[in-house]
Amino acid sequence: MKKALKILAVVLALVLVGTVFAACGKKATTNEPEANNQGTETKLKTVTDGKLTMATNASFPPYEYYDGKTIVGIDAEIAALIAEKLGLELVIEDTEFNSIIPGVQSGKYDIGMAGMTADEDRLKDVDFSTSYAKGVQVVIVKEGSDIASLDDLEGKKIGVQEATTGDIYASDDYGDDAVVRYANGGVAVEALKSGKVDCVIIDNEPAKAYVAANEGLKILETSYADEDYAICFKKGNTEIKDAVDKALVELINEGKVKEIVDKYIPAE
Ligand code: ARG
Repeated sequence: MKKALKILAVVLALVLVGTVFAACGKKATTNEPEANNQGTETKLKTVTDGKLTMATNASFPPYEYYDGKTIVGIDAEIAALIAEKLGLELVIEDTEFNSIIPGVQSGKYDIGMAGMTADEDRLKDVDFSTSYAKGVQVVIVKEGSDIASLDDLEGKKIGVQEATTGDIYASDDYGDDAVVRYANGGVAVEALKSGKVDCVIIDNEPAKAYVAANEGLKILETSYADEDYAICFKKGNTEIKDAVDKALVELINEGKVKEIVDKYIPAE
């Protein structure tokens, strides 16, 4: 009798443990919004089921850069909160900046988020979310450079990250021949240091990060262009766009976006 009770207790304990594990397992695998579980809302169709695949170019501090092997930064953190709101797991893919839009268009990625300017020309190829940050194109020169203002850029070699708005605007304003295109901002800054180009046109926050990390560089006081950063989507993919936009606007209204931006860009 005693033995039978003991066995019963062990069995009960096992059943209990099993239930707990089953519950945990369920929670881990069905990380979806409540509404989906009740079947009242259709599940978001993403590139990979249950995941939000984001394309970025992680050489753009403080928006996206590597901390060891992990991609961190403003965009990475905002995207993580968006994915959480949508009950999806965020997957960040690092690619060339000029592969982001084609990849989004071809359905390889759900979103492109890369400190990307919601530029009018790009609207022909992709749709954009609500803007979540402001960007400014600035000019980095070597200390002691004879370039003191934008007027002095005439006839100079201008380094840019290929396919960025810095590239597009500088090519328009100063001619194709004046512009030297690099794979990322870091390589462009190296080219400036070694005298291959006379300046680099790039967004202000990465510019600050590059200048802080490299001796002998400075940013011109006059800025070159003001812009708005937004997330891009495949044209007509309103399902993802609406869902992501709704989550983003909520995060803006909750003050979460500002919190993240302030964490990476402390007020001067
Ligand atoms: N704001 C600029 C653009 O949209 C530069 C963005 C570069 N971003 C990056 N992650 N490398 O063209």
